[in-house]
Amino acid sequence: MERELALEIVRVTEMAALKSARWMGLGQKNEADGAATNAMRMMFDTVHMDGTVVIGEGEMDEAPMLYIGERLGTGTGPQLDVAVDPLEGTNIVAKGQWNAMAVVAVAPRGTLLHAPDMYMDKIAVGPKARGRVHLDATVRENLVAVAEATEKSISDVVVVIMDRPRHEHLIEQVRSAGARIKLIQDGDVAGALNTAFDDTGVDLLLGAGGAPEGVLAAAALKCLGGDFMGRLLPENDEQRARCRAMGIEDVGKVLELSALVRGEDAIFAASGVTDGELLRGVRFLTRNQARTHSIVMRAKTGTVRFVDALHDLARKPAMGD
Ligand code: FBP
Repeated sequence: MERELALEIVRVTEMAALKSARWMGLGQKNEADGAATNAMRMMFDTVHMDGTVVIGEGEMDEAPMLYIGERLGTGTGPQLDVAVDPLEGTNIVAKGQWNAMAVVAVAPRGTLLHAPDMYMDKIAVGPKARGRVHLDATVRENLVAVAEATEKSISDVVVVIMDRPRHEHLIEQVRSAGARIKLIQDGDVAGALNTAFDDTGVDLLLGAGGAPEGVLAAAALKCLGGDFMGRLLPENDEQRARCRAMGIEDVGKVLELSALVRGEDAIFAASGVTDGELLRGVRFLTRNQARTHSIVMRAKTGTVRFVDALHDLARKPAMGD
């Protein structure tokens, strides 16, 4: 992949963030998602690439755009798999809460797992604990490993967990092992990403969330030198059949990072829509300006860029509604 692609991809996430941020706090999650999706779709047309959506807004018959299998880009240039979550955290934006982002990952064609839309059990850590945790280990074993790797006592380790009834037992186990917990309402891509940065205050993500979000988080942690594992959690025969249709034969097996992102290269970009621990949300400023805050990174080189951009909205034709 050409390095210029990183900048192109962050332009895509910026526009999605700008558009969906207009819906912050308005209680209309579908409109916020639609605005991000439209913007992302439009921006992709300008990117020099021959992309195919492998993680998107749904199957072709369910989603009008950014559906799985849709071709994106100018049709010339590198052949890529594209994973998108135009608005990761639709409810977050609707309520004006914490950590909503517009997210894209691209990788050479055939290298991203085509994750079906179902739950995935996940574990994510930053670079220090890479190779030290495992989805099949006990909660206590993983916490001890993270404490050792980060040179902290267990009581200083913080685990991000989605606040869901399905995690009651997990939460009990983490508490009884002596670690602390940050319960989040939504947005486990941000939860996973944050484990790779010391000053976000979180060390480990545990629990089940969306499988598509799992692949996006895996791409991010691959760029950052962290670790991620997932296990698909199909809930019925139809979901099991869907796994097989997407090429996943052994449905219950642990998918390591190398199975989720199979090549050496990937680009991950995210722009904050609302404020989070790592990224600031969109600010609409005086004189029709707006400020976005994004991260864009590449697995092959390990470069991590934070992009703080000022946009003159009057000169962005795409911002007109
Ligand atoms: P949306 O942006 O589609 O609303 O997803 C947000 C999210 O919180 C993801 O971050 C997470 O993986 C998933 O939903 C969890 O699903 P559920 O809300 O069913 O527990």
